[in-house]
Amino acid sequence: MAVLIADDDSAVRALLRNVLGRAGYVTIEASDGKAAIAELSKGPIDVVLTDLMMPLADGFEVLRRSLELQPSTPVIMLTAEGSIRDCVEAMRAGAFNFLSKPFHPKDLQEVIDRAVRTRGSARGGPRSEPIDTEEGRPQVALIGDSPALRKVIDLVERVARTNATVLITGESGTGKEVVARLLHGSSGRTAGPFVAVNCGAIPENLVESELFGHAKGAFTGATEARLGKFVQAHGGTLFLDEIGELVLSMQVKLLRVLQEREVTPIGDHRSRSVDVRIIAATNVDLEREVSQGRFRQDLFYRLEILPVQLPALRERLEDIPLLVRHFVDAANRRLGKSVEIGEDAMAVIKLYGWPGNVRELENLIERLVILSSTNKVRAADLPERVRCDQAASAVASAASQLAGGSIDLAATLAAFEASLIEQALRQAKGNRTHAAEALGISRTTLVDKLKRREL
Ligand SMILES: Nc1ncnc2c1ncn2[C@@H]1O[C@H](COP(=O)(O)OP(=O)(O)OP(=O)(O)O)[C@@H](O)[C@H]1O
Ligand SMILES: [Mg+2]
Repeated sequence: MAVLIADDDSAVRALLRNVLGRAGYVTIEASDGKAAIAELSKGPIDVVLTDLMMPLADGFEVLRRSLELQPSTPVIMLTAEGSIRDCVEAMRAGAFNFLSKPFHPKDLQEVIDRAVRTRGSARGGPRSEPIDTEEGRPQVALIGDSPALRKVIDLVERVARTNATVLITGESGTGKEVVARLLHGSSGRTAGPFVAVNCGAIPENLVESELFGHAKGAFTGATEARLGKFVQAHGGTLFLDEIGELVLSMQVKLLRVLQEREVTPIGDHRSRSVDVRIIAATNVDLEREVSQGRFRQDLFYRLEILPVQLPALRERLEDIPLLVRHFVDAANRRLGKSVEIGEDAMAVIKLYGWPGNVRELENLIERLVILSSTNKVRAADLPERVRCDQAASAVASAASQLAGGSIDLAATLAAFEASLIEQALRQAKGNRTHAAEALGISRTTLVDKLKRREL
């Protein structure tokens, strides 16, 4: 059995060579993508293990060529830890699986063994993708039914048709961009463009030209005239994301444009009038920025005509089941799987504090679906950070939810109980007698509870 190892890091290659050698595999090495592709065209390879970032040709190119040259050879991608997007993209492009670096030799062995077993059983090239093929952006929807989110949805519906400037605030990952797209999509401007600018991601000296454009030869390097984002968004919506990051000098210029609705490209003397609806978003407290002199008060008032405040996920825990279902369905569809989240896992998920909000939940679910080898995700499959410190976060999140309105005491207690039972069982390595002792209940009571909850 020949395994092709493609990685530009010789230490990683050595590690893979050792582990695989010990397991009885013959290894072939390539230190860049081109060399890997050359090996693939030389002779049969049983399994390909490839890094993503490599000189000459990257992992995706190796994957693509491998599927062409040796379609029944499983390709396993080595990805950086936490880069769910890469993992998902690799799986969509037809990778057999992926390993996040750093990985445990045991995991490597397991993935390779599984790949070898499937090798030979017909695989038929890359998976076909039924969804996301439609032209344009994916449909956006704001999932959730909590009072807090319903308030937002109502507001969005009411303000969508107006042309008023909207300022969306909320912690990272709460759905500010989703709301912005939704506003655009339900406005009278849907036929026009939706242009998003991340004000925090543009180098300071380029912001002005990015937003307002420049004439040819306006400054060194301006070899071509450029339309700014305002002009690009003409007739549509301009989404100014991370508005709190805009430097003061640009804030003055932006204010003028918002007042006059016309832009002047750098190096041009003619101004141009633009018809743009502005939606701004930020996860910083702009009022505090104003009080500390980092954000102009007049601009703040201009933007804050219609404020939309997105609640943190921990303030609307009751939306979690709906969101989980939505993300599980989407991931299943995309990956051709049928994974479900077990009740025990769900109980833990509901008790976690979700500092990264909906984005963190979405990423977690995607990862769980991709990684699941059985069809049911159990509490034990959840990452440490989610399982850990459940008790403290449970009380804290229930308390903050209660402070913001009301909670369902029975459901909260039930979820709390399920998570402690799960923890006790884990501590007792599955021994129910010991777990019951640790919880101070009889074994029969525990078994009874487990049955009722299908833990
Ligand atoms: N209510 C929701 N329903 C469905 N998906 C959501 C919801 N809220 C957020 N998401 C998803 O969560 C992810 C993060 O959302 P989004 O990019 O809008 O967050 P954000 O508030 O702009 O975060 P940041 O401040 O980090 O830019 C996206 O993939 C989005 O589709
Ligand atoms: Mg955003």
